[in-house]
Amino acid sequence: MKNIKFYECVTSTNDLLKEKALNGAKDGTVIAALSQTNGRGRRGKTFISDKGGMYLSILVRPTFIDFDTTLLTSMTAVAVCKAIETVTNKNTEIKWVNDVIIGGKKVCGILCESCLCGEDYFVIVGIGLNYFCENFQKEIENIATNIFDIKDEIKEKELTKKIIDNFFEIYNSGEFFEDYKKRSVVIGKQITFYKNEKQISATVLDIDEKCRLLVEYSDKSREFLSSGEISIKLKEL
Ligand code: BTN
Repeated sequence: MKNIKFYECVTSTNDLLKEKALNGAKDGTVIAALSQTNGRGRRGKTFISDKGGMYLSILVRPTFIDFDTTLLTSMTAVAVCKAIETVTNKNTEIKWVNDVIIGGKKVCGILCESCLCGEDYFVIVGIGLNYFCENFQKEIENIATNIFDIKDEIKEKELTKKIIDNFFEIYNSGEFFEDYKKRSVVIGKQITFYKNEKQISATVLDIDEKCRLLVEYSDKSREFLSSGEISIKLKEL
């Protein structure tokens, strides 16, 4: 397994790893924390990071600039799903683009952040997981759930290792798309999203190899949506 540095509590594993990357940390460096005081989610939202979770960041240094972080997010989701399935035997699903779901509730969110500073280009892959949290905070208690049904440190370690191993295996092979698509909860579903402050409804027809959503509007026109532009809501979730 890769060399992982564990922390009890940090502000944000993504922020800490970015600092290390700017100071020369190597491709493949991983840090993990049991809680965060300033966990960050997508679109500048706070990511609640209490004890009972696992907060991971992985540093990758792609060999070319403009590496597609949407694909990296999707690869990571597959790495997490497969690891959870192996360690717990539970079924997992993916809500486009970065949420891993068990039984309709979120167990993991992923935030990939790229940085181009002079000649230095890298991406930090941040993964926030609910291992076994006894009480979720009010804001998330109806939408979040745990991966494990009881506290089990051995299984938690096993899962952390498996996620990281899967991540590097998929990152190196680039093979993840079929595994992503078959776990998608959005295909065939009605979604809503905001574009230019307007709420729009559509039906998801498919996901393409760039992990864009092919949607159809009520007038039968079709469009590809990229995750950088919008965030969707599923009618059932
Ligand atoms: C989301 O669901 O909006 C993405 C959440 C990503 C959270 C992880 S936890 C580890 C890493 N450090 C952070 O501050 N954020 C990511």
